[in-house]
Amino acid sequence: MPDAVSVIAAKRDGRVLTTAQIDWVIDAFTRGIVADEQMSALAMAIMWRGMTRAELSSWTAAMIASGTRMDFSDLARPTVDKHSTGGVGDKITLPLAPLVAACGASVPQLSGRGLGHTGGTLDKLESIPGWRADLSAEEIHSILADPAVGAVVCAAGADLAPADKRLYALRDVTGTVESIPLIASSIMSKKIAEGTGALVLDVKVGAGAFMKNIDDARALAEAMVDLGGDAGVRTIALMTAMDSPLGLTAGNALEVEESLEVLAGGGPADIVELTVTLARTMLSAAGIEGVDPADKLADGSAMDRWKAMIAAQGGDASAPLPVAKESHRITARSGGVVTALDAMGVGIAAWRLGAGRERQGEPVQAAAGVRLHAKPGDRVSEGQPLATLYTDTPAKFEYAAEAIADAWTLGTDAVAASPIVLGRIGG
Ligand code: URA
Repeated sequence: MPDAVSVIAAKRDGRVLTTAQIDWVIDAFTRGIVADEQMSALAMAIMWRGMTRAELSSWTAAMIASGTRMDFSDLARPTVDKHSTGGVGDKITLPLAPLVAACGASVPQLSGRGLGHTGGTLDKLESIPGWRADLSAEEIHSILADPAVGAVVCAAGADLAPADKRLYALRDVTGTVESIPLIASSIMSKKIAEGTGALVLDVKVGAGAFMKNIDDARALAEAMVDLGGDAGVRTIALMTAMDSPLGLTAGNALEVEESLEVLAGGGPADIVELTVTLARTMLSAAGIEGVDPADKLADGSAMDRWKAMIAAQGGDASAPLPVAKESHRITARSGGVVTALDAMGVGIAAWRLGAGRERQGEPVQAAAGVRLHAKPGDRVSEGQPLATLYTDTPAKFEYAAEAIADAWTLGTDAVAASPIVLGRIGG
């Protein structure tokens, strides 16, 4: 029988863990037999020593086995989900889930709440009056089976990969988040346990993402595509740019409002491009041919799905979204062409305004956030507004403004638009 100290020491010394050691340590950790400090030490050893492909596959399987695995194999339509590794202004799930459902797939999208500078999909949707994130397994199943809805975005239940929930909380406070095997197994254990038949991963690369360069992003994407394949989930990863924020808003209700523009056939070009590209990739992963998502945005059927999806979870899609009590403008200190916009500065400002939380369980402000008026490629003159900050708590403006004040880099020459999709793995 393995014990925690020998498993930690084996990884510390660079040895390959056996499946028996991995199964034991994950199960014992989930049951509270392996202590948090022991699991933290193991996470740090994994961070330094890495894992072989076989170890990673066993580790992920053990995390899935720590809870229940959902099963949607009886649904009439193929299931496909999308997961983003997280970025600023990344509201793509909101238009994407109803759009892909409108194209003939079922979309089970189990999502999280935001922590730190990246927003959470559930926080965004909770700005819609009445909308409920917590659904039972039966409710999820019946919404997915309903031919008029077919998409659900909800909280992952406590029994979905519980080992990951406990481990992620430890990694968050022990400097062990940024490990490719730990990130890959964390994401893929939840997505495989969720029961989707196919999966598209949006691996963000750049200053506002976990993965700061394309090589790390590719390594993470390859690890996750392999894990999906090992578990029988057809998985494709796109690597996409996250140097500047997506779209023109960061914040909960502000991002819902922008998603509605996309569903109405408009919206910022980068959001539309990424939504349509991910939708096409999801349809191909699900084996659905002959439907173009761009048509479903243009003809209103994606918007109809959105309304059905929100109503199925108790939300009132026609109710006005919350509006912040106070606003504050950030203006250009000089003129020029915006050559870069730091996603991290914008994300931190939105967070400090109240759109995000510092600790799990804290409430967020639905209306807080940032609306951008100038992005890379735009020419601005001195005094012109660069962004508007929103909050219900005006005391937050100064601290938020500090985070965003230097986010824009101004130059003199026009900049070429940079591509959004940087590469693809799998499929
Ligand atoms: N998202 C996750 O779910 N897990 C990680 O480890 C990182 C991002």
